[in-house]
Amino acid sequence: MQESEKKISSLLFATNNAHKVTEIQSAIGNQLQVISLAEAGIDIEIPEPHDTLEQNSLEKARTIHHLTGLDCFSEDTGLEVDALDGEPGVRSARYAGEPASAQKNMSKLLQELGRNTNRTARFRTVISLIWANEEFLFDGVCEGIILEAPQGREGFGYDPVFQPLGSELAFAEMSLAEKNKYSHRRKAADKLILFLQQRLSQA
Ligand code: IMP
Repeated sequence: MQESEKKISSLLFATNNAHKVTEIQSAIGNQLQVISLAEAGIDIEIPEPHDTLEQNSLEKARTIHHLTGLDCFSEDTGLEVDALDGEPGVRSARYAGEPASAQKNMSKLLQELGRNTNRTARFRTVISLIWANEEFLFDGVCEGIILEAPQGREGFGYDPVFQPLGSELAFAEMSLAEKNKYSHRRKAADKLILFLQQRLSQA
């Protein structure tokens, strides 16, 4: 099918992380239905072997595209802490080793930072889209600080220790809608949606 003939109502999201699916769907709204790997009946552990978010993100999309032949997108996210020279960055998921645990990752991060007063950090998300056999990348950044202790019970990952610039709450103290006002993932998803709208309007 020619790209100009395409009409889409749903798109496969190459992730096993249910939190990411919920967040991206909430950021996108009802313009497009996001289909998770689980919903598509695909059970696969996708490796993240590379040194950059871009490469890991692309690896996930390519793996699922090769497997299914479908257009799809994926994302990789890292938390970059200035006082730790950008660590944990691309290693955020397994910062405290295997098996990956959000509690252990946060404890290690707080321990490494200690009483350091420079607590600036950012989340960075890279979304990779494979669309009509071409690859496209979209990024989103959220600046903030690392708190001295975890706060809140919402969200996932490092959300209890990250407070975005412009808010007095940790991500884990926010509703999904509130997190989406600031979120790296939402900013990258906005670019993805804009791109798809532009492509489809050229039809
Ligand atoms: P990955 O993109 O799945 O490799 O995630 C990297 C690490 O960052 C994992 O430990 C995630 O739990 C964490 N992470 C990813 N996105 C977020 C977020 O929006 N908030 C908090 N932690 C996140």
